[in-house]
Amino acid sequence: MINVAIMGHGTVGSGVAEILINEQDRIADAAKEQINVKYILDLRKFDGLPYSEKFIDDFNIIAEDDEVKIVIEVMGGINPAFDFVKKCLQKGKSVVTSNKELVATKGAELIKIAKQNNANFLFEASVGGGIPILRPLVTCLSANEITEIKGILNGTTNYILNKMIVDGMDFDEALKLAQENGFAEKNPAADIEGHDACRKICILASLAFKKHVYPEQVNTQGITNIDLDDIEYADNFGYVIKLIASAKKLPNGNITANVRPTLVKGDNILSSVNGVFNAVSVTGDAVGEVVFYGKGAGKMPTASAVVADVIDCAKHINARKYLYWEDSFNSYVENFDEECILYVCAKSNNYNELFENIISLFGEDISMIKTKNNDGIAFLTKKELESKLMEKINLIKADEIKVLHTID
Ligand code: HSE
Repeated sequence: MINVAIMGHGTVGSGVAEILINEQDRIADAAKEQINVKYILDLRKFDGLPYSEKFIDDFNIIAEDDEVKIVIEVMGGINPAFDFVKKCLQKGKSVVTSNKELVATKGAELIKIAKQNNANFLFEASVGGGIPILRPLVTCLSANEITEIKGILNGTTNYILNKMIVDGMDFDEALKLAQENGFAEKNPAADIEGHDACRKICILASLAFKKHVYPEQVNTQGITNIDLDDIEYADNFGYVIKLIASAKKLPNGNITANVRPTLVKGDNILSSVNGVFNAVSVTGDAVGEVVFYGKGAGKMPTASAVVADVIDCAKHINARKYLYWEDSFNSYVENFDEECILYVCAKSNNYNELFENIISLFGEDISMIKTKNNDGIAFLTKKELESKLMEKINLIKADEIKVLHTID
């Protein structure tokens, strides 16, 4: 029998407890060993549950109990999660976490500590909720040099954008629904401002390219400046707006990484990823493009990934799983100037001047549309180097300009 402890009994933690306790036989069958939840750490009281006697509020009980071999960290945040996880690994306990912030900011350090102590540190649930993505990336795709990863990595923003696109719902109402469904982070700013997707692309890029990508190295924009008008203009041009996270290997060995609202062409597979679903597209030199798709948030999908890691740890209690990357250096992530098509929405109280101005800069044969209040123009540029496009955009005489990237 292997004893485990769960740290945190929130949305994901309660799902993990339910699976491990209610499905004991199935889990034992998969792990080839009985798995016993010995403790659940939470400062709150949970009376009346069938497993209420397992709750403790002192982390040291877990750290000092040599019978606990696997610790599940589902508290979220850096403090005190980092200290707790570090201590467990130093004691030779394997740790499973769903905590994106922890892995994205402290992954290289924790992986190193796990290795020094012959313990495992697994975090499948930190990216894509229930979608198996990290393990396939390092096992099934290991023959490849990964060149690019891009996708929809945040369920909450995808749900919000989808509600805006399909139901014409406003932003706040859609966010409220996402929160009620348990998709959003405790502080939804992490979702809507792009930080959650940023942490996930950091983890994917670190694993794929083997050097740590830190959140502050990634250009990150959220969806808070996207309005129903942009959605309508994008639709007119044959696109939908999605929050896309991407990381690409550059010819010099460095990488470029971005999280930004992006117009996605209607026939791109990512354009049809709706609701809370996530999709991750991985391009490898041998395999080409493969896409992983599934529920990217929510109690049970995320708990499913956590429990799979627990089973993996139980099967490798005295062996190391090779999920690793090294620390990186400051200039490892860089901006990269490449050809692209940009969406521009410019507003001015002098429409005619704006029209002439745009035509003279971008040509007459661009796709353009008059904005709803006749106060501006939304258009798609032709394909050109981003730096050249930005030079022209800076010459537009407008009171307000919004620029978004596109992908075909
Ligand atoms: N808030 C996250 C999301 C939860 O909406 O995708 C899963 O990481």
